[in-house]
Amino acid sequence: MTYYKERGISFPDGLVPRSNLELMKTFDIREEDIIFLTYPKAGTFWIHQVIKQILASEGVQDEKYLTDVPNLLEFTVPGIGALVELLKTAPSPRVMGTHVPVEFLPPGLLGSKAKIVVMMRNPKDTAVSTFHFYQKMSYMKTPESWDSFVEEFLAGDCAWGPFYDHVLGFWKLKDHHNILFLKYEDMKKDLPAEVRKLSSFLGRPLTEEAVQAVVSATQFDSMKKTLGQQSAPWARKGVIGDWKNHFSDEQSRAFDDQYRDRLSNTGLEFEFE
Ligand code: A3P
Repeated sequence: MTYYKERGISFPDGLVPRSNLELMKTFDIREEDIIFLTYPKAGTFWIHQVIKQILASEGVQDEKYLTDVPNLLEFTVPGIGALVELLKTAPSPRVMGTHVPVEFLPPGLLGSKAKIVVMMRNPKDTAVSTFHFYQKMSYMKTPESWDSFVEEFLAGDCAWGPFYDHVLGFWKLKDHHNILFLKYEDMKKDLPAEVRKLSSFLGRPLTEEAVQAVVSATQFDSMKKTLGQQSAPWARKGVIGDWKNHFSDEQSRAFDDQYRDRLSNTGLEFEFE
């Protein structure tokens, strides 16, 4: 496992070969595309499933060639290949995502009519989720300890870039006509409301019965059951506030200070419980 830097951002080369970032520069966006943008561990798999279930209520089936990973544009998946290549010829509507910062997005995306869904999660739970994930994933650097990982996260020394640069890069686009911002915490607290919001945004409003079907298929426990733990390294606890079981008071204060520093006056805020 090694990382390389491209335009100042770290990427794991086993999963994100530099050539995929290059191919993303010329990736053609279609009007029917639906693309979700997340910082890693913000609920990428979840939002992908919710979108797929919304489409499934209209009888639109998912692409066949992918199994246990979200269609992230920059990924190369063993046995499957470079998703950016495969997605070129996938049938519409394509549902795909990416963790890359805003400056790495396919250049045609923001000017297109494609629907863009940004999903964000509070930085403390994002950090905890990342810490555990990195211990399981061979292509990510295993943190030496929780304490050293917190230092790195605060310093912005993270794959796919520093948390605040990443979320603020997208937040600058908040008035864009084709972008919907969702938060992990809102989805946890009222999934039906977020599913209604999302399905209307996608131009596919659902009946109340269909909303309930999407909700029951995408709640943590049902997703875990359907997709199986083996093929679901993304599924850990799926709660808000697990950070309290990890952070010392001092670490929590350091995160709070950085949160205030970076987000005050931006209008972007997160819930932590
Ligand atoms: P935890 O590690 O805190 O449990 P990503 O898909 O971006 O890698 O994010 C993974 C995080 O989203 C994990 O958080 C995972 O448990 C959580 N998650 C995935 N599906 C979820 C769901 N249906 N409901 C709530 N959380 C979910």
